[in-house]
Amino acid sequence: MKRNFINLSDIEPDALKHILKTAHDLKAQKYSPPQIFKGLTLAMMFDKLSTRTRISFDVAMKQLGGHTVVMTKGDSQLGGAESIESTAKVMSRYVDAIMVRMSNHTDMEELARHADIPVINGMTDLSHPCQIIADMMTIEEKLGGIEGKKIAWLGDDNNVSKTYEQAADIFGFEFVMSTPFNTIKPLEAAHEADVIVTDTWVSLGQDGKEIEKFLPYQVNADIMAAAKETAIFMHCLPIHEWEEVTEEVAKGPQSVIYDEAENRLHVQKAILAWCLEDAGVDI
Ligand code: CP
Ligand code: NVA
Repeated sequence: MKRNFINLSDIEPDALKHILKTAHDLKAQKYSPPQIFKGLTLAMMFDKLSTRTRISFDVAMKQLGGHTVVMTKGDSQLGGAESIESTAKVMSRYVDAIMVRMSNHTDMEELARHADIPVINGMTDLSHPCQIIADMMTIEEKLGGIEGKKIAWLGDDNNVSKTYEQAADIFGFEFVMSTPFNTIKPLEAAHEADVIVTDTWVSLGQDGKEIEKFLPYQVNADIMAAAKETAIFMHCLPIHEWEEVTEEVAKGPQSVIYDEAENRLHVQKAILAWCLEDAGVDI
């Protein structure tokens, strides 16, 4: 059966744990990558900007012997006259998997329904599962495990935080949010946390959003001081300098943001390998 990677909650927890393990294994083989994607092609479609998702999927595919086709907004007929159904059916005849960044989550699910090949969620307005698996990998590397850890989220309630909420049940960590939309205060959320995580207050497509109400939720030295001494600071990037986090914290010794960004590459390889099992990839 074809495997999509769209909603963490639709995937067996054991499969997600297997993907994480594969990511660690492939990171260990960084300089001798197994050529498991030979002869396979990934198409990537974006209706929004991307640096990390775009590059990490492209390099992941190529390092393991595969090929990519990249279509940014306006490069295809999707969003114009051609329907999602037709696009999905045609692409299924050319490539082996589709990675798509599409604002509308329901549209992505429709694309997956009509595609005969795996569809991978490169971010919607509702979720960002590839990012969260890279975050899980980073926490495992830095703290030795995820289960039982306290992860404190400060700032907006958005696609990334919503995916963290799903991951908390799957990976067994405590997820505490402090946002203008709930009553938990930032210092209370950060208290004795293992991980402090935030994201931009203005997600892609939200230009013109008022940021005043988010100001009390900035991650700064006081927030880090409330967390455990061993706590790490995470951010999916890009940072809006220096709104949601101070420069001192983002560039400080507890920040792991670039390891987190690197792990996108290793995780994309593992997600692709899992999705491409039907195409003969065995890992
Ligand atoms: N974190 C993340 O998904 O970055 P991009 O938007 O640059 O892909
Ligand atoms: N919440 C951000 C994440 C970017 C990777 C956005 O949707 O723009």
